[in-house]
Amino acid sequence: MKNAELINIALKAREKAYSPYSGFAVGAALLCKNGKVFSGCNIENSGYSATNCAERTAIFKAVSEGETEFERIAVVGGNSHEKIPSEYCPPCGICRQVMREFCDADFEIIIAKSESDYKVMTLAELLPMSFDKREF
Ligand code: THU
Repeated sequence: MKNAELINIALKAREKAYSPYSGFAVGAALLCKNGKVFSGCNIENSGYSATNCAERTAIFKAVSEGETEFERIAVVGGNSHEKIPSEYCPPCGICRQVMREFCDADFEIIIAKSESDYKVMTLAELLPMSFDKREF
């Protein structure tokens, strides 16, 4: 699957974001090694710490459906009023650690504003010297 297609799925997932407290809508699209795609959005809560990020929504959906082998994730986020985000939304630290549980060092994180404007970074770059029982 092309990066642009995965970003497009993330942008569609972002439309489902439930973010009344921050006004910041995030979408993610996770590509499994077998070609399946799981999307997710951020889901906030009035008890702020109960909020779930878009990336973790997508990863937890996949793991709960039996998928644990992942290749790439596309992430888009920005002010809820913007249809196309004007900024990049790098994954938060908790999401990076969750990725670390299931993904290899070369897992690609596509941090996008649109289908044509994005950066690609590996998990090893975004989470160096990380804690896990496995080695990079
Ligand atoms: N958020 C994500 O969904 N993913 C990230 O990687 C960064 C932050 C969400 C959490 C919260 O609902 C809103 O963005 C503002 O922090």
